[in-house]
Amino acid sequence: MTTVRKAVIPAAGLGTRILPATKSIPKELLTLVDRPMISYVVEEAVGAGCTDVIIVTSPGKAALEEYFRPAPELEAILERKHKDELLAAVREATELANVTFVTQDEPLGLGHAVACARDAIGDEPFAVLLPDELFGGPSLVRGLIDANARFDASVIAVMEMPRNEISAYGVVDPEPVDESIVRMKGFVEKPPADEAKSNLGSVGRYVLTPEVFDALTRTKPGAGGEIQLTDAIAAVGGYALIHRGRRRDAGNPRGYVAAFVELARERGFPV
Ligand code: UTP
Repeated sequence: MTTVRKAVIPAAGLGTRILPATKSIPKELLTLVDRPMISYVVEEAVGAGCTDVIIVTSPGKAALEEYFRPAPELEAILERKHKDELLAAVREATELANVTFVTQDEPLGLGHAVACARDAIGDEPFAVLLPDELFGGPSLVRGLIDANARFDASVIAVMEMPRNEISAYGVVDPEPVDESIVRMKGFVEKPPADEAKSNLGSVGRYVLTPEVFDALTRTKPGAGGEIQLTDAIAAVGGYALIHRGRRRDAGNPRGYVAAFVELARERGFPV
């Protein structure tokens, strides 16, 4: 089985769509049922075979690091009270993976955030998982890892989007390879709808080759004035894997509420 050991989770953004909550609570720590959003995503990376998780954080998000640090005093209390399940849940955050942090001093864009992880990644393919999108399990990232090994190239996850929403995404100019893979002839961030080359919009999972880092050093601010990961991926080229399963976008209030309710129902809560 091919493996990609390292996963980057960019979590240094401002989370403006969920203000004012995200004024003091990092978006990635907002709770879905009883766990922060980001813990589902770390678990997904680990399920796909990653052992090292590099979280890109910002100077204002100390609470994010705190969550992944051991809490010996709390653990001692839970131990004393024989709250074994809670103890296991508390320890899970520190035991699941080797989690490290790098800081993005300013939110200059997703591409810039990924570039901040360059030293931690080195010269090997790596996964990128955006922490405000949930895919309900590791199979999508697993598929990206397999496709990366098959083509020896970067592979991004895309979904077939409604035409009226396509200009909110990075859009692929596709050349079909098989029923679930296309080669990217082009990849453009947030094109006007009438210029979109397909209905294949990029979603928050990637397995990238390290050449992307060199491309990122050359990438100028693009859509929204941000250094876009899309532009660097477009420069090196690669493939897109069409995901036809579920996606939960919890980065905006509507999607966050839907994700919360659905996950609660799956866990048997009467909501
Ligand atoms: P988003 O645009 O979805 O998140 O970026 P955001 O910027 O936090 O939220 P809004 O748009 O203001 O509501 C996708 C991911 O990339 C990270 C974000 O933390 C998010 O997880 N990101 C974005 C960074 O780490 N740094 C950046 O400069 C921009």
